Amino acid sequence: MRDIRTQVFIQEQNVPEDLEWDGEDARAVHALACDGSGRAIGTARLLLHNDLAHIGRMAVVSEWRGQGVGRALLECITNVAQERGARSAFLNAQTTAVPFYRLAGFKVEGKEFLDAGIPHLRMTRSL
Ligand code: COA
Repeated sequence: MRDIRTQVFIQEQNVPEDLEWDGEDARAVHALACDGSGRAIGTARLLLHNDLAHIGRMAVVSEWRGQGVGRALLECITNVAQERGARSAFLNAQTTAVPFYRLAGFKVEGKEFLDAGIPHLRMTRSL
């Protein structure tokens, strides 16, 4: 999980390390996607605030993008959120990823904002 997030967010997207490692990982649920040989190729994180799920840190290594890994990770993490009692979910989507989340039923809420210098939109979905 750390290797993927280092590769995708810190190296590819220039997210500062202190923002990436925000202290929330120890209490989070992490989903990890692996290829046929067991190598980790994608990750996502779930933080629960009572019945509200906060999904984030979605990343698929570049050579595996566009092959359904992200969709599988998002489905997995929303299923876990539901099982643990969440009734709705939100995420802060990079604007370039909004169409990906829209396909999974998330809707944009509010105005664009910057996080780590990257434009984002908050998106929500009931579970
Ligand atoms: N724009 C438009 N559509 C997109 C998209 C994008 N950026 N990324 C994926 N999709 C679409 C796919 O075409 C596919 O559509 P289909 O069902 O009609 O075939 C569907 O979303 C599922 O795509 P999938 O192959 O599962 O996505 P992925 O494995 O490439 O994962 C990301 C998507 C965003 C997680 C991945 O591209 C990634 O890690 N990007 C870099 C990190 C990042 O930006 N993370 C998001 C932080 S908010």
